[in-house]
Amino acid sequence: MTTDAPHAGDKAEPGPVSRSRACYDAAPFLSLKHTTYFSVYDQLFSRFIGKSPVIVEVGVLNGGSLFMWREFFGPDARIIGVDLNPDATWLGDEGFEIHIGDQSDPSFWEGFFRQVGDVDILLDDGGHTYPQQIVTAASALDHIRNDGLLVVEDTHTSYMTEFGGPSDNSFVSWALNLVHGVNHRFFAFVEDHDPELRVWSVQFFESIVAFHVDRPLATVVSHSTMNNGEGRDAKDFRYHSENTMTDNELRIYFKH
Ligand SMILES: C[S@@+](CC[C@H](N)C(=O)[O-])C[C@H]1O[C@@H](n2cnc3c(N)ncnc32)[C@H](O)[C@@H]1O
Repeated sequence: MTTDAPHAGDKAEPGPVSRSRACYDAAPFLSLKHTTYFSVYDQLFSRFIGKSPVIVEVGVLNGGSLFMWREFFGPDARIIGVDLNPDATWLGDEGFEIHIGDQSDPSFWEGFFRQVGDVDILLDDGGHTYPQQIVTAASALDHIRNDGLLVVEDTHTSYMTEFGGPSDNSFVSWALNLVHGVNHRFFAFVEDHDPELRVWSVQFFESIVAFHVDRPLATVVSHSTMNNGEGRDAKDFRYHSENTMTDNELRIYFKH
C-alpha cells in the first residue's frame, strides 16, 4: 500500500500509455469524453484492434469520436455513427456510415439492424435519458455478435434529478434487472424465472456499464460438478459460526 495513492478530488489523468486517449487527442474534430473513460475503453476495446470490427457509436455531435475510433481500431474497422441531428451526414464523406434516427424509437433500431446487420460493439453516447439508454440497449442486445460488447456511457444520469433520477425505471435499474436475469441462469432458479441467455457478464465502471454478449457461454447449463480428487471427509462449517448478523446490522455495509 502506498501513501501517495490518488484520492477522490485529485486531478489524476490516465497515464500516457492510454491508446484511446492518444487517439482522442489526435482527432481532428471535437469530441467530449470524461477522463475516467479512457482506461475503460483501453481495457474493453483493445482486443478488437486490427480485427476489422463493426462499431456503432450513438451520438455523433462534432464527429471527433468517430475519427478517434478509426485511429484506435485501425483503417479496416467499419465505423457507424447514429444521431438524431441530420447535420451529422457530412461525416459520410469522411468514410463513416451515418444513420439519422431517434435512439428512443424501437422501430428505428429494427430498420437500422436490418440494414447494417449484427455488430461487434455498440457504444451509447447519445442523449443519456433513461428511455434513450434503455430502448437502445434492449434493441441492440439481439444484434451484438458473440464476444461483442454493448457499452453505455454517462450512466450517472440515473442519479441526476434533471434526468428524472433516482428512479426504479432508470438505466442503472434496468441494468441491475438484467443482472438478476444473469443470476437466474443458476439451475435452481430457471423453472421460476426468465434467465438472460445473451449476456454472459455485466461490468459496472464509474458512469459506464458494459454488457459482454456471448450466447454459447450464457447458455452453458449450470449444475454442480465434482473433480476426481481425494475426499478427506471434511465437515462444512458454514453454519457453525457464532458471528451471525441480523439484516438490520448488515445495513451498515450498504453505503450508497
Ligand atoms: C454527448 S453528444 C455525443 C458526443 C460525441 N460522441 C463525442 O464524443 O463528442 C450527444 C449526441 O447525441 C445526439 N442525440 C440526442 N438525442 C438523441 C436521440 N434521441 N437519438 C439519437 N441521437 C441523439 C445529439 O444530437 C448529440 O449529437
